[in-house]
Amino acid sequence: MNLIDIQNATVYRGDTCVFDNLTLSIGQSGNTAVIGPNGAGKTTLLKVLNRELYPVRRPDSHVRILGRERWDVWEFRKSLGLVSHDLHTHYLGYVRGIEVVLSGYYASVGVYDYQSFGDSQIERARKLVDWLGVGDIAERLFSTMSTGQQRRFLLGRALIHQPRYLVLDEPTGGLDLKATFQYLDVIRRLMQEGRTILLVTHHIHEIPPEIDRVILMSGGHIVGDGPKHDMLSDDRLSHLFDVPIHVVSANGYYQTLPG
Ligand SMILES: Nc1ncnc2c1ncn2[C@@H]1O[C@H](COP(=O)(O)OP(=O)(O)O)[C@@H](O)[C@H]1O
Ligand SMILES: [Mg+2]
Repeated sequence: MNLIDIQNATVYRGDTCVFDNLTLSIGQSGNTAVIGPNGAGKTTLLKVLNRELYPVRRPDSHVRILGRERWDVWEFRKSLGLVSHDLHTHYLGYVRGIEVVLSGYYASVGVYDYQSFGDSQIERARKLVDWLGVGDIAERLFSTMSTGQQRRFLLGRALIHQPRYLVLDEPTGGLDLKATFQYLDVIRRLMQEGRTILLVTHHIHEIPPEIDRVILMSGGHIVGDGPKHDMLSDDRLSHLFDVPIHVVSANGYYQTLPG
């Protein structure tokens, strides 16, 4: 059974047809990155996976996660964690870091006071923020933290259910170098512990060594799909981003330069 099975999905956002008969399968093991320029349909794909958007109903079309088309929201959250920027901007109000993580229990963006949670839940949230390296600032207001710190609490929110599968939308966008490297290190540890990650991005440098499959997306179509080293070539990336690109690689990471 695959983690993700998208068959002939046609997806509209407003009047824009973003996907016309998109077909894509992703297995339960191995880590994948979907890359493509702005407007390629990456965020739309995540919204389809997160069941915020549905394809046009047709007999030959389906979106299955772990073999199922229908999910209860709580069960779904326990299987698949999602960290996106949309979520990030919802959180800028009067909440403490630890509460952001705890709110994951309710799969909500609301705020709850500590009384709503059991000791074991609070204990688990504390362990998690320690593991994420932000235990010492867990009582601080989320709105007073740096973007890198906020990003880690949001990851904690997705991890509170210990999902085996994690979907990340441009995880290090807007982070400085130190915060980027720290966040990538956390993502790598998650993969090394056996979690399966789907990463969606246009930043080639945030594709960690543990990613083995790369899917190239442009204009709502999959224009390349294969082993990372084959996909991240000068030729393919120059076509994908419509500009001459030279790719360099070191220590399992890739970086792009003007071609
Ligand atoms: N709310 C919306 N209404 C209409 N069109 C949209 C909306 N959101 C995105 N689009 C369009 O859908 C396409 C894919 O967008 P998106 O999935 O956000 O791309 P990406 O994340 O790869 O940059 C773009 O052409 C964009 O203009
Ligand atoms: Mg996007």
